[in-house]
Amino acid sequence: MIETADAEYDDTAIRFLEALWGDGYLSPGGPEEVDRVVEGLSLKGKTILDIGCGSGGITLHLVERHGVAHATGFDVEQPVIEAARRRAAAGGTERASFIQAPPGPLPFADRCFDVVDALLHVPDKDGLFAEIFRVLKPGGVFAASNWMIGHDGEPSPQMKAYIAAEGLSFAMASPVRYAQAMRHAGFANVTVRDRNPWYREVARGELERLKGPLYAPVAAVVGAAYVDKNIRTWEAMQKVLDSGEHRPTHLRGWKPDAIG
Ligand SMILES: C[S@@+](CC[C@H](N)C(=O)[O-])C[C@H]1O[C@@H](n2cnc3c(N)ncnc32)[C@H](O)[C@@H]1O
Repeated sequence: MIETADAEYDDTAIRFLEALWGDGYLSPGGPEEVDRVVEGLSLKGKTILDIGCGSGGITLHLVERHGVAHATGFDVEQPVIEAARRRAAAGGTERASFIQAPPGPLPFADRCFDVVDALLHVPDKDGLFAEIFRVLKPGGVFAASNWMIGHDGEPSPQMKAYIAAEGLSFAMASPVRYAQAMRHAGFANVTVRDRNPWYREVARGELERLKGPLYAPVAAVVGAAYVDKNIRTWEAMQKVLDSGEHRPTHLRGWKPDAIG
């Protein structure tokens, strides 16, 4: 288990990111961006796995607004799972459950989900997609949004500076590399959508708000030093968003029906 003390997304990080991105969201875009990730998919009555569910906003949005039968939020860290469970209990949601387990094989049986959503910090992309493929039912779909890097070469000095400023265990790969890992696992009809043009403008606004109206209220919750550190991180991030090296991307692919 990743103990609370070792968590990358501890209670301070959760409070900070939710102040910026909305309650239950540890990534940008909120419910509108989730709706774009699952655009055109019929989720009504489906069973969903949300990998790297964080504090649960996405999992609960899929249950509450897309009519899924049941959503399981899975994460390796305990503080986010506890936050997600509190959020589900406060909203009276019974069609969502949250599970914490260490990185590695997913703690789920073969072919138990119709849809798998979102992903994360995992270095072994082939192993990750083999696991996602295993837990999907034939005919099921994988849909996700993830922060990627535009290429698989040596990151630029600006990118290295940004990743160091984040201080998180990012294992960024290119959209090409992700799509290759998905096809290798057996996914069909793999598609990729570049979200850099959207997020590079949104991030500019986030930095302005952090330096301006959000500074005092967020500093009151997480401390001024924490906000200052994140302002430096956002400044470093903006450079690589503007250069196109930082590449938020949507991914989608199907597990063929014919797989026995
Ligand atoms: C950037 S946050 C996104 C959380 C959530 N999907 C959202 O958008 O609000 C990434 C999450 O992935 C989790 N994570 C990191 N490595 C993981 C792994 N191997 N398996 C599952 N979750 C993981 C982290 O603990 C964190 O909660």
